[in-house]
Amino acid sequence: MSDSIYKQKILDYIDDPINSGQIKKPDLRAHKSNPLCGDEVDITIRLDGDVIKDIKFSSKGCAISKAYASMATELVQGKTLKDIRKMTDEDIVKELNICLTPARLKCALLGFRTIKKAADEKSRHHEE
Ligand code: FES
Repeated sequence: MSDSIYKQKILDYIDDPINSGQIKKPDLRAHKSNPLCGDEVDITIRLDGDVIKDIKFSSKGCAISKAYASMATELVQGKTLKDIRKMTDEDIVKELNICLTPARLKCALLGFRTIKKAADEKSRHHEE
């Protein structure tokens, strides 16, 4: 992807984020913040069995964390929680074509890590 197309894609998500908001009475919810800057992301998820049927995010913070949280919600929609637990930061960097400095990479991964937290907590409760 060329640099200008990459930047335009991020700008589009900043202007018009997909899956922005909150699901009422979600099956799963998670919150995470980046301690270095204080940015926060909330994720709410509606499940159909183990499949993510609907997912929304809300964020307080930088444009990068918002844009990539939005992209991450799009990416995981329709996947199972099991699939998400197996996904790594590296998978997301590859899937979303992220090319940022290490500090900004943490911003970009905040949304995905919050989704993973929701999936991990569900599995922990399931095992109890
Ligand atoms: Fe901290 Fe973006 S500046 S998550």
